[in-house]
Amino acid sequence: METKVIKADRKNIKKEDLTEAGEILRAGGLVAFPTETVYGLGGDGLNPDASKKIYAAKGRPSDNPLIIHIADKEDIKKLAVDIPDLAWKLADKFWPGPMTMILKKGPAVPRETTGDLDTVAIRLPSDEIARTLIRESQVFVAAPSANSSGRPSPTKAEHVIEDLSGKIDMIIDGGSCDIGLESSIIDLSGDKPLILRPGFITREDFEAVAEGVEYDKAVIAKTPEKNVVAKAPGMKYRHYAPKGTITIVEGDTDKVVEKINAEVALNESRGVRTAVICSDENKSRYKCKNVYDLGSRKHELDITSSLFDVLRQLDSDEIGVIFAESFDELRLSQAIMNRLRKAAGYNTVRV
Ligand code: TXA
Ligand code: MG
Repeated sequence: METKVIKADRKNIKKEDLTEAGEILRAGGLVAFPTETVYGLGGDGLNPDASKKIYAAKGRPSDNPLIIHIADKEDIKKLAVDIPDLAWKLADKFWPGPMTMILKKGPAVPRETTGDLDTVAIRLPSDEIARTLIRESQVFVAAPSANSSGRPSPTKAEHVIEDLSGKIDMIIDGGSCDIGLESSIIDLSGDKPLILRPGFITREDFEAVAEGVEYDKAVIAKTPEKNVVAKAPGMKYRHYAPKGTITIVEGDTDKVVEKINAEVALNESRGVRTAVICSDENKSRYKCKNVYDLGSRKHELDITSSLFDVLRQLDSDEIGVIFAESFDELRLSQAIMNRLRKAAGYNTVRV
């Protein structure tokens, strides 16, 4: 299959620009599109065949449910039942934006889309290209991140092309994603609100609207605990990991720099291609041929939006051993460290 790539400008998007993309979705085809979090691989969420195509293109296990993207809040009524008041409160506060809600599934949603669960994940993105596409397509757009299963989520069209070119109908290139980490997922289908995936909207943000919000234990664990299975099926899979091994080094900054420099010297002396992942603040302190600077700790969106790109670069640069600083003092620490820990296979040392 030939994949058509079109460009779109989110600051100046007209619905005519997305007529063809909308037609593809309506006809059961697949279109990758940018959102404020990461690129999504869209298909008609109410068409079981389109959902099956999404799983096939990504190489994703079919028990891992998809998020349905809508453009108008009221549409949750068409997808979910027993909607609690809290869902409307959260929607008013955080939509359009990087929040996904889990609600009880309505009859219109096929089980192929929800990985056979009785619940459905719904998100109203803020990106203008995404919202224009959803409206233009006149369907509810099921969209997982547009990467091959297991790889870091795509934050640029180039990443999507790398993973899915030849497997889907169209890619809309809207440039880089602002946030660069997937949406916060909050489960409202149980007794109390539960965060299944940390993202740009934090627990503190949710607590301003909802009482008793808790994290699913599996997503904040520093080590994978036995008998703790993530409630979001996708969170249990190996994810983000580059081919090289990552070690996160935690502790006082001077000691972290010292430890990483010692490890780099040792590995480089053995001829291993070695890299450091760090922030702007410490970049010049590392003696290593390959230093990947995520950006300043003062601009957290620089860090979040560059993380997945750097994880991909490590592979294209054929790095074998990687040492990463920890980012545990930031507003978005839970979101960042959740991804970094998974990428590192929870491999952490404290100095
Ligand atoms: O930011 C995002 O959420 C992006 C953009 C494209 O919107 N999408 C995204 O989708 O990250 P995906 O499929 O890569 O991740 C969805 C996560 C998976 O971990 C999945 O298991 C979980 O959401 N999920 C989906 N439906 C669920 C449900 N009914 N119950 C529990 N977890 C669910
Ligand atoms: Mg994903």
